[in-house]
Amino acid sequence: MLKIILYVIILASLIIGGATFYHLHKVAAKNKTEMANFENKIPLNINLGKVLVVYYSLTGHTKDIAEQIAAKTNADIFEIKTLETYSSPSVYLKSKKELADKAYPEIQKENLPNVSAYDTIFIGGPVWWYTMAPAIYSYLRITNFNNTRVVPFSTQGSNFGKFFDDFADTVQNAQVLTGENFNNIDEKYQSQVSNKINAWLNKLSK
Ligand SMILES: Cc1cc2nc3c(=O)[nH]c(=O)nc-3n(C[C@H](O)[C@H](O)[C@H](O)COP(=O)(O)O)c2cc1C
Repeated sequence: MLKIILYVIILASLIIGGATFYHLHKVAAKNKTEMANFENKIPLNINLGKVLVVYYSLTGHTKDIAEQIAAKTNADIFEIKTLETYSSPSVYLKSKKELADKAYPEIQKENLPNVSAYDTIFIGGPVWWYTMAPAIYSYLRITNFNNTRVVPFSTQGSNFGKFFDDFADTVQNAQVLTGENFNNIDEKYQSQVSNKINAWLNKLSK
């Protein structure tokens, strides 16, 4: 009996390991193909007015993209912070319940930026469970954008799901411009990611 259980455990591990390896391999190949489009330098040619970048980031990927956008657009930057921080691995179950119950976390409300002072506002965060991380919902629910131009951006492992649809459904009184998504990607693609951001910013300026 013990032997059978052991065989089942080994078989399950092999299947899960194989599926994970196959998935990661497929994502890496997709990232490589996408980054090949951004090999050549794309100069910035933008006119977005006074810019604000608002972001939420738990593990730094969105922060990195937010800081690049802010540097390129000479923007002010604001980080959304939850009052209670998430820890791993409970973040998976906690956030799933928050999203299912629409019980989004409290965020720090001190020094919230005055959105009316800006022409273009970028708002970014990680994809959690194929939608926006709950803290982005929290921020969007307490902010009236008074018809300002807002631009969503996401970072994710590989699948942004309904992030952009849910953003458009949640944001209040905003003109939503075309967003962009960024897979977590190998450091070696740094210049391609920078070119991808430039191409997107240029399009937004047209
Ligand atoms: C709770 C949770 C759920 C996630 N769900 C998804 C998902 O649905 N799709 C995906 O591609 N990545 C998913 N990820 C990966 C994150 O989107 C990705 O690592 C993101 O870049 C993290 O951003 P950050 O470093 O700014 O926090 C999830 C991560 C966590 C913690």
